[in-house]
Amino acid sequence: RLLIIDFGSQVTQLIARRLRELNVYCEIHPFQNVTDAFLAEFAPKAVILSGGPASVIDTESPRPPQSVFTLGVPILGICYGQQVMMHELGGEVLRGHGTAEFGRAYVTPTEERIDLLTGWFLDTREQVWMSHGDHVSHIAPGFKVYGTSPNAPFAITADLDRQFYAVQFHPEVHHTPNGATLYENFVKLAGFEGDWTMGAYREQAIAAIREQVGDAKVICGLSGGVDSSVAAVLIHEAIGDQLTCVFVDHGLLRKGEAEEVVKMFRDHYHMPLIHADEQELFLGELDGVSDPETKRKIIGKLFIDVFQKHAADVGGAKFLAQGTLYPDVIESVSFSGGPSVTIKSHHNVGGLPEKMGLKLVEPLRELFKDEVRALGRELGLPASFIGRHPFPGPGLAIRCPGEITRQKLDILREADAVYIDQIRKHDLYDEIWQAFVAILPVRTVGVMGDGRTYDFACALRAVTSVDGMTADYYPFSHEFLGETATRIINEVPGINRVTYDITSKPPGTIEWE
Ligand code: XMP
Repeated sequence: RLLIIDFGSQVTQLIARRLRELNVYCEIHPFQNVTDAFLAEFAPKAVILSGGPASVIDTESPRPPQSVFTLGVPILGICYGQQVMMHELGGEVLRGHGTAEFGRAYVTPTEERIDLLTGWFLDTREQVWMSHGDHVSHIAPGFKVYGTSPNAPFAITADLDRQFYAVQFHPEVHHTPNGATLYENFVKLAGFEGDWTMGAYREQAIAAIREQVGDAKVICGLSGGVDSSVAAVLIHEAIGDQLTCVFVDHGLLRKGEAEEVVKMFRDHYHMPLIHADEQELFLGELDGVSDPETKRKIIGKLFIDVFQKHAADVGGAKFLAQGTLYPDVIESVSFSGGPSVTIKSHHNVGGLPEKMGLKLVEPLRELFKDEVRALGRELGLPASFIGRHPFPGPGLAIRCPGEITRQKLDILREADAVYIDQIRKHDLYDEIWQAFVAILPVRTVGVMGDGRTYDFACALRAVTSVDGMTADYYPFSHEFLGETATRIINEVPGINRVTYDITSKPPGTIEWE
């Protein structure tokens, strides 16, 4: 396996991404964790030193342990990783003097071509993406230059004897169009076969879960979303009925959702599952509440209480399973800067693990979302389930601005079902990242048949996105929108007006609250 030492670059996860695409197994670890002992234990076959925001000129700035350079394995340093390599191996790094480079740059080759650059410089120069303030002013002994850019005379350097490579730019980003080739060359040089597959991951993960858990009991909060479902199925495969899932029905689920989840996990996977029907409790506590943050806090707190209550029934559970994904781990590493990662609040059941003295089992920590989907397919989860749009923990509560009532929730569920049915019928579901209906806290006047109506208005939402961080509204045809509005008004009593939300994110958010 390959070790990526993270110095805090915003794009470190993209390095992992490129390597996964090459079917090479890698792990990212923050520099603080990478000690001599860690390196000896990890025994990497190759190491990549990531970029990062620090300056090696500052004595406090992060360093890899010296022992990384005596492992005898290929090393690739990127941006800060290059500078720290040069600095540690006897070169020199300087600040400023007009040699900062941000954005697009072009690298041209020197005379000699090396294997790292196979497939490079076919058009004499390569576009790369630079982002550096400091620059290498003297390369370390043993290194030679194999590529230069106007502001980075040492854009590509290598010590071929030791198989140390160091580049000033970021080959992992989209704006270095030929960057993937450079990684491909590097992993080939390091002797990787590119034989890491989802099937292999499944086997590894199962072995790791068995080792971590032993014969202890594990509980898992199942939301019906893809991540927790894949985690549950994987853990169940590893430890069978030592796993109990708790599915909390807070009354804020979509039409038919609770039945679907319970049926699949109980009947299809034969998993011990506690179906906690807590609709009364949640809807009671939410009665009269219209402030969005208050809603979220109430739901979050009740969720923990309910989960804890039912988890106690399992008796003696020592572990809590979560579907934490790789981007969540990385985000918290890069921003908190510490080895103890804070998982995004909506991905973990509050302070539960500490409160209940539980340890975490997070078998998806190394995976990206689409890899989780691939693992789900590998585990035999139905395609329709794996491709489901994301659904937020607080559920329909944040799609019902203003006070939540059972009546509004029922109307919302019906309208949402019609809308999603329309999207599926028109074969648009997989093109859209997320789609849902929000019921608005206003009634408007209409005329149906010969009568006056005074019913709720609703808004349709559909967005395209890669990660939910930014989003654009989906450009439905007028025909689709018209047909859908007619169907909702005809089929859903209580709604007499339909609008389409054409706000992108930013400035809007995807959900309405
Ligand atoms: P926003 O509304 O912030 O949503 O643009 C971005 C994505 O996150 C989902 N979301 C949540 N997911 N718990 C979750 O599990 C939450 O509290 C939560 N709030 C928003 C939202 O559905 C969208 O996919």
